[in-house]
Amino acid sequence: MNKPVILCVDDEPILLLALKYQLKDYFGNQYQIETAENAEEALEIIEELLADNIELPLVISDQVMPGMLGDELLTQIHIKIPETLTILLTGHADVSAIARAVNNANLYRYIAKPWDPTDFNLTVTEAVRSYFHKKELAEFYKGLEKKVAERTLELERKNQFLSMAVHDLKNPLSIIQTSSEMITNHFDDCDKRQLLEFNSYIFSSTQSMFELITNLLEINEIEAGKLKVKPMLIDIQVILNDLIKHYRVLAKAKGINLYFETDHQSYKAMLDERMISSVLDNLISNAIKYSPYDKSVYIRLLSTETHIRCEIQDEGPGLNEEDQKKLFGQFARLSPQPTADEPATGLGLFIVKQLVETMRGKVWCDTEKDKGATFIVEFPSI
Ligand SMILES: Nc1ncnc2c1ncn2[C@@H]1O[C@H](COP(=O)(O)OP(=O)(O)OP(=O)(O)O)[C@@H](O)[C@H]1O
Ligand SMILES: [Mg+2]
Repeated sequence: MNKPVILCVDDEPILLLALKYQLKDYFGNQYQIETAENAEEALEIIEELLADNIELPLVISDQVMPGMLGDELLTQIHIKIPETLTILLTGHADVSAIARAVNNANLYRYIAKPWDPTDFNLTVTEAVRSYFHKKELAEFYKGLEKKVAERTLELERKNQFLSMAVHDLKNPLSIIQTSSEMITNHFDDCDKRQLLEFNSYIFSSTQSMFELITNLLEINEIEAGKLKVKPMLIDIQVILNDLIKHYRVLAKAKGINLYFETDHQSYKAMLDERMISSVLDNLISNAIKYSPYDKSVYIRLLSTETHIRCEIQDEGPGLNEEDQKKLFGQFARLSPQPTADEPATGLGLFIVKQLVETMRGKVWCDTEKDKGATFIVEFPSI
């Protein structure tokens, strides 16, 4: 990497050489010392340094030079590289030049000619130190600002998440409240069938709340990074068989046929059993939840040389492009609605995606509006 440069500008070649040797003797190889005999040459060197991305902590310039004066040169440098510090060498106390350089050129000090070598070295050392200190501080603040912005965004997201969760808990709660009020106030007027109906509202509302709370806890774990994967050799077919047995009953209630296609090989991958069950459970439950009555759902298990893939295809409403973009987000409020009033928190697919990615897999959806949806999960096989 190129060393930072200290640039010296003076129209007296002897003084320039003296400056160069003094700085070299003092700093050794720490900095590259460049020299220019006039302002134009200095500006050319600066252009080259900028093009090569080389740092310029300090410019030391004589004030009185033919052509552009020192303070004017330092002002131009300040416009190009505001963080570079400048020292002005003045043969006589040119107060107005110093004032201009202080106001316009980030002047660190002025040094009267002839300079005292010890003073000069100390001033230059302090200037360079101050440059790097400021730079460190600027980087520190930049990092801090980035962190604050990230935290603010995270907090905003959490607030939004919390208000959505609270909103979704309020609905079933108010149904429970209304149903229980109805029972209390109209108990004598209600027959057994009506009472059972109110009870079923209470039951399904508590079920929704339970599901929402389970999902919220799962997301909390995911976001806190507490999710621990316990990978073991799992045959996905065994998991699917269990889930399909359970969901066949629910599907039958909606007249939905559940087909399972597999070539009866074993489909082993390193997975976390609870996570993969939760993923497939979510996808199969969605396929049934969003399918109209009397349709079919096809579950396929396939393996390639490198991957194991599970496809869950339904003949439901499918998703338009707008919905597809939000599909794996939190609290996805999309067009397809449950076809038998099943609970829907809008968190299932968000969890699915996090779990699949935690297990180094991929999940996506192949769908078009009115043409059904196929959700595909894929994991590297062993
Ligand atoms: N197979 C599907 N066909 C059509 N739309 C679907 C399908 N699966 C999901 N969706 C749409 O995506 C949305 C998000 O699904 P997701 O599984 O995240 O939440 P949910 O089913 O509403 O609730 P949860 O899974 O938490 O009970 C659903 O509300 C639905 O609109
Ligand atoms: Mg779901």
